[in-house]
Amino acid sequence: MVLDECFQVSGDLCKIINNISILREQTESQSLSFGRGQQIMDKQNVPVITLDGPSASGKGTIARLVSQALGFHYLDSGALYRLVALAAMKRNTDVSDEHSMVDIARHLNVSFRDSTIWLDGEDVSNEVRAEACGEYASRIAQYPALRVELLGYQRDFRKSPGLVTDGRDMGSVIFPDATLKIYLTASEEERALRRHKQLMEKGINASIADLIQALRARDERDSSRSTSPLQQCEDACLLDTTGLSIDQVVSRVLNMYAEARKA
Ligand code: DC
Repeated sequence: MVLDECFQVSGDLCKIINNISILREQTESQSLSFGRGQQIMDKQNVPVITLDGPSASGKGTIARLVSQALGFHYLDSGALYRLVALAAMKRNTDVSDEHSMVDIARHLNVSFRDSTIWLDGEDVSNEVRAEACGEYASRIAQYPALRVELLGYQRDFRKSPGLVTDGRDMGSVIFPDATLKIYLTASEEERALRRHKQLMEKGINASIADLIQALRARDERDSSRSTSPLQQCEDACLLDTTGLSIDQVVSRVLNMYAEARKA
């Protein structure tokens, strides 16, 4: 699986997505004339697909492609924790201070443009994906007050015509009424190989054994924390992607969504 393949969208699909974007803008401008109560009702009617799962299970790649195929918005919730961690690192702020992390989150100056991420006017798309950033993100993600601070921000991504999101607690806490909840996983070896390939493509060397250890430690921390731990919630469908191609996983998710809409 080549990572770049994930972001190649055919010409036809681009046209469909453009048309859906126009429709989305019309729908959004119409909803401005409604009252607040109506907008909340509208939000609840907006379909959401959640993909939760352990590190390097391919959630981000799949969620992005599914959102493109459906013309839906996309929320990479892990990026928010990574951005708070990155901002703390850049400002030399102690990540063990929960209050400082909440303060950074509250004043976070970020924007998501296409597939790039900007922090304080700087393109941090690559920096934010670094292993060290993921490690710090996992540590600060244990703070209950930080999770509360980011809750409303994440829910605001729920906009017409729909949202696809990936993370650890998207189905269990942030969007409990999601139309479709998926718990996406893959064997530890395959996840380490995928991460290895991503790093090699960026020219970063890493041993598979070290990557397995790092994934294990991160999953253990993310699953054992007391607030919003990584877990497969009861109403989530398990999708094991071991041995499957990106296309196969995307089409399974789209089929599952079509079924969920009928229900
Ligand atoms: O998905 P990711 O690797 O970008 O996430 C980085 C860390 O952020 C992850 O180890 C745990 C945390 N996280 C979280 O606690 N809840 C989420 N919904 C998403 C990420």
